[in-house]
Amino acid sequence: MRILGIETSHDDTSIAVLENGKVLDLWTISQIDIFKEFGGTIPEIASREHVKNINLLQEVLFNKYDKNSFDYIAYTNEPGLMGTLQIGYLFASALSISLNIPLIPINHLHGHLLSASIDSEIKFPALCLLVSGGHTQLIFAKNYEDFKIIGQTLDDAVGEVFDKISSKSGLGFPGGKIIDSIYQNYQGEFIEFTKPHTENELDFSFSGLKTQVLNYINSQKMKNIPIDIKQVVASFQKTAIDYLCFKTKLALEKYNVKTLILGGGVSANSLLRTEFLKLHSNTIIPNLKYATDNAAMIAQVLHLRLKHKNKD
Ligand code: KG4
Ligand code: ZN
Repeated sequence: MRILGIETSHDDTSIAVLENGKVLDLWTISQIDIFKEFGGTIPEIASREHVKNINLLQEVLFNKYDKNSFDYIAYTNEPGLMGTLQIGYLFASALSISLNIPLIPINHLHGHLLSASIDSEIKFPALCLLVSGGHTQLIFAKNYEDFKIIGQTLDDAVGEVFDKISSKSGLGFPGGKIIDSIYQNYQGEFIEFTKPHTENELDFSFSGLKTQVLNYINSQKMKNIPIDIKQVVASFQKTAIDYLCFKTKLALEKYNVKTLILGGGVSANSLLRTEFLKLHSNTIIPNLKYATDNAAMIAQVLHLRLKHKNKD
């Protein structure tokens, strides 16, 4: 069973070939270098880049694989940027018509949720912490398809706050990786930021944390006190990761699960990866190449669904 995965929900054009659950190939063209200069994604430019990149990837794909060797196409249909999703859909649907194989829409978040399962098996029920540029959620998964959100951010997503703090501090975009590498080299003391309170104890408020950090920078500037920006962003990372782990622990007290899963672009964070593994005896985290947006995780969702269906 060979599945072609296609992902275009944001600023990565990605194609993957998955055969019986094994990733044979994963090609991704990122637009980060273009959007670095703008300090954020510009949807119109992203769409144009996807058109160009998907054509390049198509050539690479069909140079290596026989067109008739695919059984299914899995593509990201939501959530994401409207224009870039449309490009993925049009490409996928044209291929599915010409190859006469089924076209299956996949939710991008389900891809992140199940990305760790490419290398490790998930035993259900499972709890997932999904952390990306657009989402911060705690999800209770009964099986491969039945997902319930039990906690989520009431405002900003954690990845978005990494990006905003980095941009506002003049460190660059996207901020997650930049702040993470500063944290890894930082040896000094940390500033104590407080963890925002929420009414539902499994929800998050990252806007509150962002405001504290930005207010700290502004107030030091107003008082003409020199700021150690590395200390500020390293302290932010420490608080943000503590906060994510603290909420995950609360969820584990309420829900008895067999697997704890991490997913989404922020799962590339070094501190989160280390701390998260300590939270449960059976914790799985995605391989770094499947942490940020990629088509392998999209194909994997379909693979698990088909495998599960065949077992029933
Ligand atoms: O899942 P993803 O690739 O795209 C979305 O679906 O949003 O996540 C991108 C987010 C960005 O906000 C980026 O700054 C963050 O993931 N990110 C990280 C790290 N690497 C990427 N955040 C913290 N630490 C990292 N090492
Ligand atoms: Zn994503």
